[in-house]
Amino acid sequence: MKLRRFDSSIPKRALVGLQNGSLRYTYRGVTFRKNPLDIALYMKLLHELKPMAIIEIGTLHGGSALWFADQLSTFGIDGHVYSVDIAQPPKIDDPRITFLQGDAMALENSSLNDLMESIRGPILVIEDSSHLYEASLAVLNYFHQHLSRGDYIVIEDGIVNDLRGRRYRRYRDGPNRAVRKFLDKHHSDYEIDASICDFFGQNYTFNPNGYLKRVV
Ligand SMILES: C[S@@+](CC[C@H](N)C(=O)[O-])C[C@H]1O[C@@H](n2cnc3c(N)ncnc32)[C@H](O)[C@@H]1O
Repeated sequence: MKLRRFDSSIPKRALVGLQNGSLRYTYRGVTFRKNPLDIALYMKLLHELKPMAIIEIGTLHGGSALWFADQLSTFGIDGHVYSVDIAQPPKIDDPRITFLQGDAMALENSSLNDLMESIRGPILVIEDSSHLYEASLAVLNYFHQHLSRGDYIVIEDGIVNDLRGRRYRRYRDGPNRAVRKFLDKHHSDYEIDASICDFFGQNYTFNPNGYLKRVV
C-alpha cells in the first residue's frame, strides 16, 4: 500500500515556536503538552465523534485528561476519560476521569485491560506516551482488538521527525514508523483521516497521518 507522505507542511520556523510553547503550556494550571493546531483538531473530532470513552496513554500531570473531560462536558457528551501512565497517577480528583497505572508496552497486563470489556464506544484512543516505535506499535496492536468501526486512534507526535535538534533524534521517527508498519498490515481496516490531518494544510499537525479511523 502506498502511504501519504509523513512530513508536515508546518514551516520549520513556526514549528520551533509551536514546540517550545507546547512544552511550556498549561491548562487550568496543569502542564498540557498540546499545540494550538491539534487542540483545534481534537475539538473538531470530539464534536463529530462524540466519544463515550477517551483512552489516553501518557498522562504526565493530567492536564490533557482534564482538558478532554472539560471538552466532553462542553459538548454535552456523557463520556469518560481513562488516562494511563507508567508513572504514579496525578492527585486530581474528577469523577469524569479514571487514572490508571500501566505500561504502553504491555497494556494487556494493566488494569485498563480489566475495564475494556465494560467500555462502550464510540472510543477515541490517544497514544501519547514515549513516542518510541515499539510503544506506538504496541498501543496500535493492543487497541486493534478493541476498536470498532467508526472509532479513532491517534498516534501523537510523529512531528518529532521534523523537529531539529539532537534530543528529537532519539525517537528515531518512532510514531511515523509505527503507523506505517501497522497500516502495512491493517490498511483495509483503517483510514488516515485527511479531513483532520490536512485541515490547516498538508499534515499541518504534530500528528502527521496520525488520526486513524477504523472503517471496518
Ligand atoms: C508526552 S507526556 C504525556 C503528555 C500528556 N498527554 C499531555 O498532553 O499533557 C508522556 C507521558 O508518557 C509516560 N510514559 C512514558 N513511557 C510510557 C510507557 N511505556 N507506558 C505508559 N506511559 C509512559 C510518561 O511517564 C509521561 O508522563
